[in-house]
Amino acid sequence: MPAYNIFRRGMLKGTARMTALAVMNRAKAQAPAGQRSDTDPRDLRGQPVPEPPDDKSAGPIRPGRGSVLTGKVAVVTGAARGIGRAIAVEMAANGADVVALDIAGPVSTASNAAPATPEDLAETVRQIIAYGRRGESIRADIRDIAALRAAADHVEQTYGKIDIVVADAAIQRWKLLLEMDDSDWLDVIDNNLNGTANTIRAFAPKMVARKQGRIIVLSSMQGKHGTKDGSSYAASKWGILGLMKSAALELGEYNITVNALIPGLVDTPLTRYEKRLSESMSEQGQKMQNPTPQQAWDARAPTAALKVGWLQPDDISPAAVFLASDAAAMVTGAEYEVTGGDSAKSA
Ligand SMILES: NC(=O)c1ccc[n+]([C@@H]2O[C@H](COP(=O)([O-])OP(=O)(O)OC[C@H]3O[C@@H](n4cnc5c(N)ncnc54)[C@H](O)[C@@H]3O)[C@@H](O)[C@H]2O)c1
Repeated sequence: MPAYNIFRRGMLKGTARMTALAVMNRAKAQAPAGQRSDTDPRDLRGQPVPEPPDDKSAGPIRPGRGSVLTGKVAVVTGAARGIGRAIAVEMAANGADVVALDIAGPVSTASNAAPATPEDLAETVRQIIAYGRRGESIRADIRDIAALRAAADHVEQTYGKIDIVVADAAIQRWKLLLEMDDSDWLDVIDNNLNGTANTIRAFAPKMVARKQGRIIVLSSMQGKHGTKDGSSYAASKWGILGLMKSAALELGEYNITVNALIPGLVDTPLTRYEKRLSESMSEQGQKMQNPTPQQAWDARAPTAALKVGWLQPDDISPAAVFLASDAAAMVTGAEYEVTGGDSAKSA
């Protein structure tokens, strides 16, 4: 039994009146690795209560364990801009080497947003490197699983391992279901849902081989309720939650956690255009063609618990760092919402 577990037990139980050092010393003296301590307070009428092994534990308490990613290697899809860039850079700022993967070009006619560019992707890498970490870009399409598998091989060969994968890349379509072209449905589902599954299928085998890893997928509040005029996007984001929970069940035995990050409305190129602003107003029961950003903010902000119209990408990224950290070892199959308060209005 490692010393820290003894300390952790004593502290949680409230029986350790000694300093941390004294407890550690006692543990060293009385509990060689792999053995229970005679002084262990966790028993039931003399019968020891089993605990998870160290590799299935977030313990012990230590400063920064929920944010430190030192020595870890992360791959982030959709990293050219928006939330993906913020996650990539936030992970680098907290110690990870980060590979930024993005198509950095047109995805589909069924995307309302302007395409990201190679310059956007290069800027993400510049910001990663500015934090003193290794970083590089890979231009790849998440719909192309062969390209993702090649990327996984490359990252493993170059960095020695893959600790963290964030499946962020997605597109959005605002169109009435009955007015959709086939591509408005099929491309959104293919890109967002199949692409996220491809990302897990390509990268997770590297984690299975090492029996550890963190997978974070991006869903949305639109993946938790219906979205008028946005059915293909909402369906893709609901599907990602089913994928996430299923993958968590399958990969847990390899110490791989799989969780969904659920942003509220965030100002990115995905959302910064008139159609999205008018949709966000109609979600509040207000109809207006081509509202200004200020009008859209003023309509939304009073309805949110924290009185913000929308969030920024770097409001979301700290939660990704936590989910990727050692502290989140026992978090899997879960949805982690960062919404400025929209969460307070849903189950
Ligand atoms: N912005 C929001 O309000 C919001 C809210 C909830 C969830 N999300 C989710 O967060 C994630 C990021 O969204 P964002 O707002 O930063 O969007 P964004 O458009 O700013 O960035 C998305 C990135 O994904 C890339 N991408 C798209 N399809 C790709 C493909 N096939 N292969 C490789 N790269 C591809 C794009 O090139 C782009 O760089 C998405 O999954 C989105 O659904 C966003």
